[in-house]
Amino acid sequence: MLTVRKISTIHGKIQALWDVSIEVNEGEIVALIGANGAGKTTLLDTISGTYIPVSGTVEFQCQRIEGKTAAYIVEKGISHVPQGGRLFSDMTVRENLEMGAYSRHAWKQRMETIERICKMFPRLKERENQVASTLSGGEKQMLAIGRGLMSRPKLCIFDEPSYGLSPKAVMEIFHVIRSLPKQGITVLLVEQNVSQALEMANRAYVLENGRITLQGNACDLLMNDYVRKAYLGL
Ligand SMILES: Nc1ncnc2c1ncn2[C@@H]1O[C@H](COP(=O)(O)OP(=O)(O)OP(=O)(O)O)[C@@H](O)[C@H]1O
Ligand SMILES: [Mg+2]
Repeated sequence: MLTVRKISTIHGKIQALWDVSIEVNEGEIVALIGANGAGKTTLLDTISGTYIPVSGTVEFQCQRIEGKTAAYIVEKGISHVPQGGRLFSDMTVRENLEMGAYSRHAWKQRMETIERICKMFPRLKERENQVASTLSGGEKQMLAIGRGLMSRPKLCIFDEPSYGLSPKAVMEIFHVIRSLPKQGITVLLVEQNVSQALEMANRAYVLENGRITLQGNACDLLMNDYVRKAYLGL
């Protein structure tokens, strides 16, 4: 479904990604793990159109998308739930959700999509008219995920959705992410919560200093000595 081939991305004088290749197949949950500053967010931002790679290609459903606008990429079926959520803080829960449905086909179906999202996160229904800035951390992340799903994506990419949340909120959010493939939504997930991410993923990649250093089945990586030492503290 998604093929990232040898991309390099540069921020000013800093090269954040070096010949990075990853693949995500339809119906999978693929995890991307790596330390702070490894380049995880840069990779997701390059896929979703914030950055243009200096070399390499990004193909989504056999079409090249590198260098296309973020709006075009959303329209093609990729949604990006960014690190920290980046909500419209002065808008209500409902308004934030509607903002996620700005593409033409998503807008027409927005009522039905909102209903579906409120079933996943009943708390959002209860807080429908509350201003986003006054939500709790967990509620904000639920809203960010809900807004990401409003575009009715085929592939949803998540950047550290569990960051800063209580164990209960993490469980709730991971439960929803785990259910997405059954609803026809493929998942690419960046997580610092490595053990839980590997437990729910089919496959995973390890990104270190802008390069992919390990890849494989998630259960194999969970048993890998290096991963256990470097990322699980075992
Ligand atoms: N807009 C930017 N301008 C300059 N340098 C940047 C920019 N964005 C990221 N970088 C640099 O690129 C490198 C990779 O950053 P990135 O945010 O992709 O890492 P990350 O793996 O997501 O880290 P974290 O786990 O802390 O979120 C870092 O050295 C960072 O300082
Ligand atoms: Mg990041």
